[in-house]
Amino acid sequence: MKRPVWKEPSGKGCLIVLKIVVLGSSAGGGSPQWNCNCPVCRQVRAGAPGTRPRTQSSITVSADGENWFLFNASPDLGHQILSNSALHPAKGERHSPIVGAVVTNGDVDHVTGLLTVRESHPLAVYGTSRVQSVLADNSIFNVLNPEYVERRILKMGQPTELKTKDGKSAGIIIEPFTVPGKIALWLEDESAGENFGSQPEDTIGLKISAKDGDEHFFYIPGCASFPPELAERLTDAPLVFFDGTLWQDDEMKTSHVGVKTGNRMGHMSNSGPEGTVAAFAPLNVKRKVFIHINNTNPILIDNTPERAEVEAADWEVSYDGMEITL
Ligand code: MLT
Ligand code: MN
Ligand code: ZN
Repeated sequence: MKRPVWKEPSGKGCLIVLKIVVLGSSAGGGSPQWNCNCPVCRQVRAGAPGTRPRTQSSITVSADGENWFLFNASPDLGHQILSNSALHPAKGERHSPIVGAVVTNGDVDHVTGLLTVRESHPLAVYGTSRVQSVLADNSIFNVLNPEYVERRILKMGQPTELKTKDGKSAGIIIEPFTVPGKIALWLEDESAGENFGSQPEDTIGLKISAKDGDEHFFYIPGCASFPPELAERLTDAPLVFFDGTLWQDDEMKTSHVGVKTGNRMGHMSNSGPEGTVAAFAPLNVKRKVFIHINNTNPILIDNTPERAEVEAADWEVSYDGMEITL
C-alpha cells in the first residue's frame, strides 16, 4: 500500500510511517516536583549541568503528520501543546491537530489533561471499560461535551483502529493488554485488602502499530512486575517505552520525601535482580526507553552512576520533546 507523505515544516516531503513525540517524560508531579527538595529536584530546579526539567508522562503519535493521538493526557498538557508546534492550531479560527486520546490507567497524571482539551473540539477518547467507568463516575469529566467527545471502550487483546470522532482512520492500530498494576491512587480503597480494590483493567500496556506497514512499538508507562507472558510479548520488539519510575524500591524513603515503596505504588524499579534492566536483558529489544520517571530518580541527571549503568545496558532516558520516527 502507498505510504502517506509526511510534510515536514520545511516543506520537504518524506515517507513516514509513525512519528512519536514524547510530550512528558516524568512521572506524576513532574521534575522538579513543585514541593520537592530532594537532591535530584534541587539540582534540576537550579539548572545544574546535565539536568533539564521534565513534565508529566505522555506521548503523542501520528501516522500522517496532521492528525495526532495523545497517549495519556497529563496535567501539563497545555504547556506540552505550547512546546510542540505539531500540536498548534493550523487551520481557521478554531482548530487542533489533536484528534483523540488513549489512556492507559486512571491516574491523575494520565487523565487530568482531558480537562485541558474541553473546549468544544471533536475528540475520540479510548480506555478500558474500567477506566471509562471511573471517568463516567466523576462528574468533572462532564465538561467533555458528548456532542464533541466520544468515549470508546478498549477490549483486551483486540486490535483497534484509532479513528477520529467522525470515523476517519488515523492510520494507527493499537492492541491493548493488561499489565500488573494498581488502581489509581485517588480510588484506593483501604478496606478492600492488599490490592486496594485493583482490577485487571486498571493498568494496560499498548502495542501501537502503523495501519499500513509492519512498524510498531510498545508503550507501557506503568508496570508493577514482569510476568513471563510480558517477557514473551516484548521479545525482539523494535522499540519499547517502559515504566522508569524509580531507580530502587525504597528510593522515596531514602530521599526522605515519602514512605511508600515502588512496590506499594505499583511500579517495578529500574535496578536490582527483579528490576527492569535485568528483566529486559535477555529479550533482544532493539530500542529501550524509560518514561514516567519519578523526580527522585538519579537517572534523570546525565552524569550520575545510575544513568551510566542504564546506558551501559542500552537503555535511553526519555526527555520532553524526544522524537522517534519509525
Ligand atoms: C503513579 O504513577 O503511581 C501515580 O500517578 C501516582 C499519583 O497519582 O500521583
Ligand atoms: Mn503516574
Ligand atoms: Zn524530588
